[in-house]
Amino acid sequence: MSGAGPLLEVEGLEKHFPITRSLGEVVGRAKPRAVHAVDGVSLTIRPGETVGLIGESGSGKTTLGWLVARLHAPTAGTIRFGGNDVTHLSGKALRHWRSHVQVVFQDPVGSLDPRLRVWQIIGEPIRAQTGASRTQTRARVEALLPTVGLPIDCLDQYPHEFSGGGRQRLSVARAISVDPQLMVLDEPTSALDVAVQAQILNRLVELQRERKIAYLLITHNVAAVRYVADRVAVLYLGQLVELGPVRALLEHPVHPYTKALLAAVPVPDARRRKLRYRIQGDIPSLVDPKPGCRFAPRCPFVIDRCRVEDPILRPAPGAADRLVACHRAEEVGDVPPEALLAPAPSALSPTP
Ligand SMILES: Nc1ncnc2c1ncn2[C@@H]1O[C@H](COP(=O)(O)OP(=O)(O)O)[C@@H](O)[C@H]1O
Ligand SMILES: [Mg+2]
Repeated sequence: MSGAGPLLEVEGLEKHFPITRSLGEVVGRAKPRAVHAVDGVSLTIRPGETVGLIGESGSGKTTLGWLVARLHAPTAGTIRFGGNDVTHLSGKALRHWRSHVQVVFQDPVGSLDPRLRVWQIIGEPIRAQTGASRTQTRARVEALLPTVGLPIDCLDQYPHEFSGGGRQRLSVARAISVDPQLMVLDEPTSALDVAVQAQILNRLVELQRERKIAYLLITHNVAAVRYVADRVAVLYLGQLVELGPVRALLEHPVHPYTKALLAAVPVPDARRRKLRYRIQGDIPSLVDPKPGCRFAPRCPFVIDRCRVEDPILRPAPGAADRLVACHRAEEVGDVPPEALLAPAPSALSPTP
């Protein structure tokens, strides 16, 4: 696998979950409906790069992460990894490929089998990939434990004997056990208290430096993104609305949804802490969405065009390394996020 090109290239990726059919659909009078959880996402990740993926809950972040790791089969689109098309891998080829992309799940309790011991949990991918013996597996797991900050004498313990942070270290050890080139970190620290979050994030950063692993970091935590990510992707209702280098994007968000999302993040300054932008309007349904911008019903800058024409992800005004999907990017790009804070942003000349 060459290090020159992108490690992961996702193009037009879709995941639609069919909805249980009603009687009308069964007898053929109505079209089957589907939840468009991921709806046309294109994204690349370079070797060793960290891309942060942010967006409200229900925007499709986990589904996108699972697609990238091929834990879901896509409805449409392509996934290339190291230059090879892996969209339709199955069976043995898929199992073999899985060593390249590992997932650390949000919930370290639900994702660790309580009946298995540490060496079995961490060693499972090793055994699946290499068919290593029990003795070989135990030895490899023992060698891995210090790299995630766990004591080597915990090989025979069970997950419930660990704290939340300890369990997440087990998950990280399991993921790195097969030397992946990409790790999908799905809210890896959101279940942990703040001090432990920092320890786990630091460990992940160090592991990345040591092993040159690329990360897709899914998180609500903008501070974590700022600290860890090279680029940020913003997902809204299954579609990317903005993508760019972390500093530029967080300091100067162009898309109205990104501005709203960042304005809603509590800031450490006590004076401003109470200010929250209330994103107005209804969240459009992910079930068979209508044409037009999905943020249109809630956007303070909406114009008629937004309600009929899908905005495509295109280079942001004056920034070749940034992409934004907004018809009005040129006009609204410079509006600061704070201007979207409630009450009504009258200074913004929002269109009625
Ligand atoms: N296995 C599934 N079957 C049906 N719908 C699903 C499934 N997984 C996720 N969804 C739906 O897809 C949408 C996106 O979910 P998810 O990817 O979990 O979002 P996020 O991680 O951003 O909170 C939600 O509406 C969710 O209910
Ligand atoms: Mg999720």
